[in-house]
Amino acid sequence: MLARIYSAAVLGVDAYEVEIEVNAAGGPPCVVVVGLPDTAVKESRDRVTTAVSNSGYYWPRGRTTINLAPADIKKEGPSFDLPIALGMIAAAQEIDDEIFADFSFVGELALNGAVRAVKGVLPVALEARRRGKRGLIVPEANAREAAMVAGIDIFGVANLRNAFQFVRGEKQLTPERGDWSEFFAHHQSYEVDFADVKGQSHVKRAVEVAVAGAHNILMIGPPGSGKSMLSKRIATVIPPMALEEAIETTKIHSIAGLLGSERAFVATRPFRSPHHTISDVGLLGGSATPAPGEVSLAHNGVLFLDELPEFKRSTLEVLRQPLEDGRVTVTRAAGTVTFPSEFMLVAAMNPCPCGYFGDLKRECRCSPVQVQRYRQRISGPLLDRIDLHIEVPAVEYRDISSDRAEEKSDAIRARVAEARERQQVRFRRDGKTTCNARMSARQIKAHCKLNDDSQELIRIAMTELNLSARAYDRILKVSRTIADLEGMEAISPDHVSEAIQYRTFDRNLWI
Ligand SMILES: Nc1ncnc2c1ncn2[C@@H]1O[C@H](COP(=O)(O)OP(=O)(O)O)[C@@H](O)[C@H]1O
Ligand SMILES: [Mg+2]
Ligand SMILES: [Zn+2]
Repeated sequence: MLARIYSAAVLGVDAYEVEIEVNAAGGPPCVVVVGLPDTAVKESRDRVTTAVSNSGYYWPRGRTTINLAPADIKKEGPSFDLPIALGMIAAAQEIDDEIFADFSFVGELALNGAVRAVKGVLPVALEARRRGKRGLIVPEANAREAAMVAGIDIFGVANLRNAFQFVRGEKQLTPERGDWSEFFAHHQSYEVDFADVKGQSHVKRAVEVAVAGAHNILMIGPPGSGKSMLSKRIATVIPPMALEEAIETTKIHSIAGLLGSERAFVATRPFRSPHHTISDVGLLGGSATPAPGEVSLAHNGVLFLDELPEFKRSTLEVLRQPLEDGRVTVTRAAGTVTFPSEFMLVAAMNPCPCGYFGDLKRECRCSPVQVQRYRQRISGPLLDRIDLHIEVPAVEYRDISSDRAEEKSDAIRARVAEARERQQVRFRRDGKTTCNARMSARQIKAHCKLNDDSQELIRIAMTELNLSARAYDRILKVSRTIADLEGMEAISPDHVSEAIQYRTFDRNLWI
């Protein structure tokens, strides 16, 4: 007796259909799983047989072979428990597997037969819809997340019995209703706003310039000066995600198991803030299950690295690939997968180990050598990819105590959106570049022409302020963005001199 049933597995950010065959034959009882499953699938054999018995069903008496196809992809995770169990029950009862044909199934089983949440149901639902399935059976806890995909019925089940009775037509289930376009339309606001930040107008300006050109930014300031507070608000001034972007980011969060009924869809730009002790795998992704790392969870949003010098040098260096390519390739035993990772990098650091170098009120206790060593911890290649550096001084008492209304994120975002629009128009002809930060050397040449005055200004800065050669291109790109914010086609000396100010680290003035 052979029972065929469908499931799906996630590879990278997408899912592919998995066909499961359960074949019951004569002979001494044993259960064999084939199709290159990993250890998780083998472990599932024990859970499944126990869950089947504890749900009051028999599993086939003789030799049972379970085959997961396609065989050439290593499958991971416990999400095949439910379909395997259903297939075994059908094989044991000699029921026609037609009852499974219209559906796809995912779910982990507990020993008592309860169906437990799994990761990645959003891509699984997309795949089931693509395959023309009428419905997808998922753990109850994942129903809302899967139901964001329209055009396929999502049924949440609490336990194995429910699922079997449902496909047998003995139990009614109401499909979970959701719709990402509707959810998306109503969940685009942030809980924080730039208006919460008092004073610091020059820092806010630097942030606006950074976001306008999608430039990475580094903030340097003493503890308590508001670096974390400002960073958390950066996503609020980036133009809203397009629905396609939101779906892409949601798929990644779904695969990482970060969604639930509270948060079934990622409609706002993510803000990810990994601790400096994070492992390379945690940052880039990988490990035994195909987990996206922080760089991918931040896709289309902000990756915030607080206390930058505390990160291991090697950890910062692995950020190069995602920063450069906007995606990251993770190699694991099961093969390589690629996750998208386009984010804006926001980094923060104290100016010295004690934190108060250059502070007007408190004295720094560090020796010049300590200060220098601290700053040299930041890897050059990473620094190379940060276009703006901004000093964040301790907030002034009169600012913090003032009840003057500060500008809201909405207003800043509107200006950013206009500057980005100008960039899109400009780059439309050039191909895939969409923002100033990503201009190639050729594009910089074409789009960042300087008049004689600007040229002279940069020349002076380079020599007198001892700017590095690599600072040159950064200044040009940032000047371009400042001009775009002003709606000017030509870059003026004012734009250039503002851009030069954002090179604190190169200027070496404060060492
Ligand atoms: N400009 C500001 N306006 C309002 N509150 C501020 C400002 N700067 C700092 N604060 C307050 O100080 C706290 C500490 O700031 P934080 O962002 O954690 O500083 P940092 O990350 O630089 O150490 C914030 O949570 C906030 O309550
Ligand atoms: Mg902080
Ligand atoms: Zn110090």
